[in-house]
Amino acid sequence: MADPVTASARLSVAPMMDWTDRHCRYLHRLMSARTLLYTEMVTAPALVRGQARHLLAFNPEEHPVAVQLGGSEPAELAEATAMACEEGYDEVNLNVGCPSDRVQSGRFGAVLMTEPALVARCVSAMIEAASVEVTVKCRIGVDDQDPEAVLPDFIARMRDAGVRRMQIHARKAWLQGLSPKENRDIPPLDYPLVLRMKARFPDMHLSINGGITSLAQAEAFLADGLDGVMIGRAAYHGPSDVLLQADQRIYGETTAPRSPEEVVRLMLPYIANHLAEGGKLGNVTRHMLGLFTGRPGARQWRRILSEGAHRPGAGVALVEEALGAVSPAAA
Ligand SMILES: Cc1cc2nc3c(=O)[nH]c(=O)nc-3n(C[C@H](O)[C@H](O)[C@H](O)COP(=O)(O)O)c2cc1C
Repeated sequence: MADPVTASARLSVAPMMDWTDRHCRYLHRLMSARTLLYTEMVTAPALVRGQARHLLAFNPEEHPVAVQLGGSEPAELAEATAMACEEGYDEVNLNVGCPSDRVQSGRFGAVLMTEPALVARCVSAMIEAASVEVTVKCRIGVDDQDPEAVLPDFIARMRDAGVRRMQIHARKAWLQGLSPKENRDIPPLDYPLVLRMKARFPDMHLSINGGITSLAQAEAFLADGLDGVMIGRAAYHGPSDVLLQADQRIYGETTAPRSPEEVVRLMLPYIANHLAEGGKLGNVTRHMLGLFTGRPGARQWRRILSEGAHRPGAGVALVEEALGAVSPAAA
C-alpha cells in the first residue's frame, strides 16, 4: 500500500505562482478531499536569507499539501526544506521546470535541466534535511537539448540521489525568446516520451503534466500506466469539471460529489474570517470566478464578483448575491 500522500498523487493541482495561494488551495480542498495540492513556488533564498517564513503559512484543512521550493544551492535548499517540514507540509518539491526570468537569474527552475549533477546534490541535501518525501518537477529538456537523451539521464540521476517521485511537464522550455506564458503553450507536448520513461523506470512514481484538461484524459493516462496526473490551468479555470468528481473517479471514493453551490456556501465562513482578519474579499473570490463555467448564469456570477469585490465594504453578501444569479443546476 502506498503511503497516503503518494496515494493522493494520482491527481494533483500544479504549483502556479500568484494562483495556487492558500485561499485557492482551501477552495480546491473543499472540491476534492484527496487531490494533492501544491503551493506556489517559494524560493529558498527568501526563506533562509529573506526571513520570509510567513510565505509557508497554510490552513490545516489543506492537507495533503506539498510545498514547492525554488533554488540551486544545496545547503540553502536543505535549510528551507527543514523549515517547510517544521511547518507541516506533506511533501517538498523542487522546481526544475519553471522558465520565468526571475527564476533564471536566480538559477531556479527549468535552467537547472542543464545542470543535473547540481540538482542531484540539491535533492540529496534536501532529502537529508526532510522528514517527508522530496519530489522533483521538471521539463523534458530545455533549448537544444535532446529530450530522448536528457530526460532518462535526468531521471536516473534523481533516482540515484534518492528521489522516488517526479512530475514531468511534457514539453521543453525555450529559455531564450519565449515568455513564461508562451513556454507553457508553444513548445510541443511529447506525451509518448513520458510514457516511455515510465516503462524504463518502473519503480519511479511518475506524474505527467501539460495541456491536460479533463478527468477523462487523466483516467486515460492512469490506465496507460502512469502513476499520476498533474493539472494546472484547467483545474484553476474550471475547478468544478476537474475536481468535483475526482474523489470518485480517480480514487474510487463512494461519497457523493459536492455541487458548486455547496462549495460556495462552505466558503462563506472562510471568507468572513478572512475579512475579519483585515483581508480583502477579492483575495479569495478571484479564485472562485470559474466555479460555474458552462452553467447558465456563469457570466453574471463572474461579473458580480469581479466588479463588486473591490468596492469598499464588499463582503459575504456580494457572494450571496452572485450565487443568486446562477440558475439552479439541471437535475
Ligand atoms: C500562472 C502560472 C504560474 C505557474 N507557476 C509555476 C510555479 O511556480 N512552479 C512551477 O513548477 N510551475 C509553474 N507553472 C507551470 C504549471 O505548474 C504547469 O507545469 C503548466 O501550467 C502546465 O500544466 P497545465 O497545461 O495543466 O497548465 C505555472 C503555470 C501558470 C499558468
